[in-house]
Amino acid sequence: MTPILYRATFMHTPRNAFQDADALRVQEDGGLLVDGGTIVESGNFSSLRAMHPAARVTELRGGVLLPGFIDTHVHFPQVRIIGGLGRPLLDWLEHVTLPEEARLQDNVYARAVARDFLHGLRCNGTTTALVFGSHFKGAMEVFFEEAAGSGLRTVAGQVVSDRMLRPELHTTPERAYTEGRALIERWHGVGRARYAVTPRFSLSASEGVLDACAALMNDFPDVHFTSHINENVAEVQTVQGLFPGSLDYLDTYERAGLMGRRGVLAHSVHTTDRELGQMAAHRCSAAHCPCSNSALGSGLFPLKRHLNAGVHVALGTDVGGGTGFSMLKEGLQAYFMQQLQADAGVPLSPTHLLYLATRAGAEALDLHDQLGDFSVGKAFDAVWLCPPEGSTLDAILNHASSPSETLAALFANGTQADVAQVWVGGDEVYARSGNTASHQP
Ligand code: GUN
Ligand code: ZN
Repeated sequence: MTPILYRATFMHTPRNAFQDADALRVQEDGGLLVDGGTIVESGNFSSLRAMHPAARVTELRGGVLLPGFIDTHVHFPQVRIIGGLGRPLLDWLEHVTLPEEARLQDNVYARAVARDFLHGLRCNGTTTALVFGSHFKGAMEVFFEEAAGSGLRTVAGQVVSDRMLRPELHTTPERAYTEGRALIERWHGVGRARYAVTPRFSLSASEGVLDACAALMNDFPDVHFTSHINENVAEVQTVQGLFPGSLDYLDTYERAGLMGRRGVLAHSVHTTDRELGQMAAHRCSAAHCPCSNSALGSGLFPLKRHLNAGVHVALGTDVGGGTGFSMLKEGLQAYFMQQLQADAGVPLSPTHLLYLATRAGAEALDLHDQLGDFSVGKAFDAVWLCPPEGSTLDAILNHASSPSETLAALFANGTQADVAQVWVGGDEVYARSGNTASHQP
């Protein structure tokens, strides 16, 4: 296949922006040479063009090319209930979320929801997502089929619970194991799909179900793990009551043997110092979901305490507790919520926001050798943000005087309307209508 030379101004963060003040890499009028979906060379466009006269050129001039966004916490069954504002977590679950999740018992309904969900991701520039699935195995089969058709990278799992939700959403430890096993054998590592063992949260999972999850992870050591932790004060208190022998919320997962490098715990708003020390020791990650934390009134994420403890942090939209699929909006909300914490907050720069929305997610998923930035050897997963001519963002970008200003403007103003084109592994997975990149022979 002829290599493709993408011509664009691109930006990426090949290093951890919280550890390296110089993490942002910018190439004005750059070139990324992509062969078989992988970046094989990167640099200045005209030098690359001279070296590769046979390559096909794709012109992406105007706007900025960024690595595809990586959403580390998003619920597939909740796409149609985004925007249920005005309730705290447990009330919202009971009255808004769980009734909708029960509807996914019907595979036809589940397929339609999966399509809405995957479209929401890709038209917002998200190329990889750690997806909280459905309680129903049939809905998960449907989800993985649709995900394969979408071209997106998904790390997803059947959600398991055996108490305190609704009877139709409950499983048993035996079923949690056998259905999880069947899904892992069918889908984990197939195409762009991976599997995440997913107890909903300790509140709804008995020790038996947590043990069944641990058995799956023991039998399939390279799968991922995800759940919720310390999101809401009432939730934390309920978990304490349900696990009187546990030291804290994290300990309910630790005792079952669930914590490790591929673990991603969503929210972590009310986490104690002991828990932070242990999360760092396990090398698991926190998925910070600022829009959801605001919408459900869960609290202000203590980013500084996580970073000081050595806990890795990535970003998640938490649709449908969160307010949409845009990782740009999520980055902006993360910035706002740190600003609100004065000295306890971390002043987030545009570089931090880009890192959180891209490379940090790849690190959380332990896929940073393949994804998350534009280094040579990585998959060409990319989003071309190009505001419509005449839009406010277009005007701002035309007058930005530094890459930092450009990035800040993208996070402050960018929306789905600015996502012009999206690729995963070199395959186009989304193009804004009327917008196909021009190819030159
Ligand atoms: N905790 C348990 N389930 C959920 C959920 O669906 N959303 C959020 N935000 N928190 C949860
Ligand atoms: Zn969630």
